[in-house]
Amino acid sequence: MTSRSRCSVRFAIVLAYASLALAHAAHPADPRPAPAAEAPPRSTFGAALPGLSDAHLADFLDGRLDFQTAETPAGGLGPVFNRDSCAACHSAGATGGAGDITVTRFGRTVNGVFDPLISLGGPLLQERAIDPAVQEVIPPEANTIARRLTTPLFGAGLIEAIPDSAIVLGTLIRKPPGIRGRAAVVLDPASGSQRIGRFGWKAQQATLLAFSGDAYLNEMGITNRLFPTENASNGDAALLARFDLAPDLEDKVDPADGTSDIDRTTAFMRFLAPPPRGAITPGVNAGERLFHASDCAACHTPVLMTGKNHLAVLSEKPVALYSDLLLHDMGPLGDGIPQAAAGAREMRTAPLWGLSARPVWLHDGRATTIEQAILAHAGEGQGSRDKYASLGAEERRQLREFLNSL
Ligand code: HEC
Ligand code: HEC
Repeated sequence: MTSRSRCSVRFAIVLAYASLALAHAAHPADPRPAPAAEAPPRSTFGAALPGLSDAHLADFLDGRLDFQTAETPAGGLGPVFNRDSCAACHSAGATGGAGDITVTRFGRTVNGVFDPLISLGGPLLQERAIDPAVQEVIPPEANTIARRLTTPLFGAGLIEAIPDSAIVLGTLIRKPPGIRGRAAVVLDPASGSQRIGRFGWKAQQATLLAFSGDAYLNEMGITNRLFPTENASNGDAALLARFDLAPDLEDKVDPADGTSDIDRTTAFMRFLAPPPRGAITPGVNAGERLFHASDCAACHTPVLMTGKNHLAVLSEKPVALYSDLLLHDMGPLGDGIPQAAAGAREMRTAPLWGLSARPVWLHDGRATTIEQAILAHAGEGQGSRDKYASLGAEERRQLREFLNSL
């Protein structure tokens, strides 16, 4: 940790306190600024942000092609990998969506201490290989195994543009008894500085570029400037030497414009429009009131604002993501895998926008209905879950009608 980066996180916290104090008089309940009137219009799943310049629209389309392109062993795929393209997993609703594909994490927990079994190929399993001889398996030493569901990327650029200070501010708002929430302080591999994480089930990355670099390496086996070291199948260096024949870095820079795949797919994700909002019916309005009455909004914050941004389409926009982007101790619903700033039981509040376009829910896809997802809330979410469970059948239906409209 450099002193400069430590300083910037401290600065974010000071800033958050300052805005809290300033806003307190006007809005004692929620100090964040009310969303501006011009919410970006919602279009269709997978569309570009409305109002993009022609040049940025071209970057979006270019990046989408890279996102969809199936990589080959000659181009660097593997030796071990999970799928051969980003879109192979991210496709529900449209390219960039969620999906029902899960990846598997493993490690060994002894006396509550998690060992990611790095020397045996942990903590992420690569379930495919370019040759059966290099196939990775879950080692017998592993006693903690969890699946992670593919998350959707609609509106990801807006989430990225929310300032660290706005997320930290969420920790200072008074919450119902039993609900806390912690900002995930993570190391950004691109800048080397500390940032507030917001992407992934554990809020393990702060930027789309970092997540893209991580995914190219760990889901596809493509080394890149942020993640230059190939995964050895179950940690076996000899096998790696035998099968890793593509020269590093495998993510090549295009001499024409200096970008590589991680940059182009980042542009695609950054410019993806948020999911479209469904019709606002009387049932949806009733459900929204019940959502608040059941304390769901204590974690699923309806709106956060982006900061000033050099891109007008991302600058000072309301982001109706329905998440505080904080980590919460979810008790037995936690996946048992500590990662980046998150402890074993801590999970990032899942954004709820676009919920209806998802095939299954929760971090491991265990919920096949939205009701199951709600009823599985435990730990800090227990009280709110119990409030939902105590509603009448018609009220529960209205609350779900509201969720399905997001
Ligand atoms: C094998 C399936 C798979 C492939 C291939 C894949 N992803 Fe993902 N993606 C996931 C899963 C699973 C998660 C959730 C991971 C977690 O939090 O542990 C995820 C999460 C993400 C997130 C975080 C989104 C959020 O809001 O939390 C981003 C960004 C992302 N992927 C980008 C990419 C990019 C870019 C590629 C291609 C380079 C890619 N993914 C390839 C399965 C995949
Ligand atoms: C203490 C914070 C907290 C409260 C309160 C809370 N949630 Fe959640 N919610 C979370 C977290 C964290 C997750 C991700 C859990 C996981 O998959 O491990 C989540 C996941 C969800 C999901 C699944 C989303 C997905 O992407 O799969 C739904 C649906 C949901 N919550 C609805 C609700 C509703 C409705 C309420 C109120 C009755 C509520 N939540 C209250 C923190 C909370």
